[in-house]
Amino acid sequence: MSDPIPTPNFIGMLLECQQDALDAIADGEKSAERLRIELLGAKSELSKLTKQIRFVPAVDRAQAGTVVNQVKQTILQALAARGTTQAPKTTLSFDPTMPGIEPPEGHLHIVTQAIEEITRIFERISFIRVRHPEVDWDWYAFGALNMPENHPARDEWETFFIQNEKLKVKSEMFSRIVLTPHTSNGQVREMEKKTLPIRMINIAKCYRRQIDVSHTPMFHQFEGLYIDRHVSISHLKGVLDYFAKQFFGPQRKTRIRPFHFQFTEPSFEVDVTCGVCNGRGCKLCKEGWLELGGAGMVHPNVLKNGNVSAGYNGFAFGWGVERCFMMKAGTQLDDIRLLYSNDVRFLEQF
Ligand code: DAH
Repeated sequence: MSDPIPTPNFIGMLLECQQDALDAIADGEKSAERLRIELLGAKSELSKLTKQIRFVPAVDRAQAGTVVNQVKQTILQALAARGTTQAPKTTLSFDPTMPGIEPPEGHLHIVTQAIEEITRIFERISFIRVRHPEVDWDWYAFGALNMPENHPARDEWETFFIQNEKLKVKSEMFSRIVLTPHTSNGQVREMEKKTLPIRMINIAKCYRRQIDVSHTPMFHQFEGLYIDRHVSISHLKGVLDYFAKQFFGPQRKTRIRPFHFQFTEPSFEVDVTCGVCNGRGCKLCKEGWLELGGAGMVHPNVLKNGNVSAGYNGFAFGWGVERCFMMKAGTQLDDIRLLYSNDVRFLEQF
């Protein structure tokens, strides 16, 4: 297999071949028939170039083919003119009015597009996007979230721990470092900024030891946190509905079901009506609902760990970006790993 030929080089070679042919025709030394064989026959330069078209980048191949045909026509015309009159001084050449070759144009990765969209949706209700470490103390990822050392709830997060012999253990709280398994580490970090009320949307990479059709070891979550005076479950429900309608479509609804998380009390799992059957029940969703992620009222111990002033409370929620993207109507993705396989044929569809 030969090396690829950059399109401009290929076009340059064609134009050179055309000029050589026109010069030979104009020269008038050889008979028209001989020239026809030399310039257009199986062993001609043009024929060799035609075979090399397959080394031109696929996107430009059709256009390169058009130029090949044009060169052939130019040579044929020059030969035809030469057949009747003697040695026509033809100046026929490459058509400069032909549209240029457009370089391939990329676009933002679909996960980046989803992150941008989620950010804009929450901005409209004054939630500000923040960034917190994606490699963080075990304390922020678990301890501060009311998950004591050795608590079985930690088992649900298939965490990657960082090994660092040089790490000086200052206290029990700051002794271990993890690749953040969720964006909830941003909760207490945000509270520590001491600016109330808090309306945060923390979108970040998360890492867990898992890989199958619906999991990748690296994925993204977005974490909402609202801390103010007199925050209630109705506020949470309002925000959930708002998001579902903006992101999935105006006819979609959400519901909350009781669940358990260490860092919220009460805790919920949030479902959204299925986009395929609109909540009536179908093969995809069974009963009309698709599971979106977790949410709840921030646990008093978490508020305490973040030193939030008395009289303030709040809600939090945390969902997967890829998961939400896959649940959008029209996105029939049956393997989440496709998102990160870097196959341009797949990515170009969005
Ligand atoms: N951090 C949880 C997870 O990764 C999701 C979650 C549940 C976030 C409840 C929250 C919440 O903020 O309130 O599974």
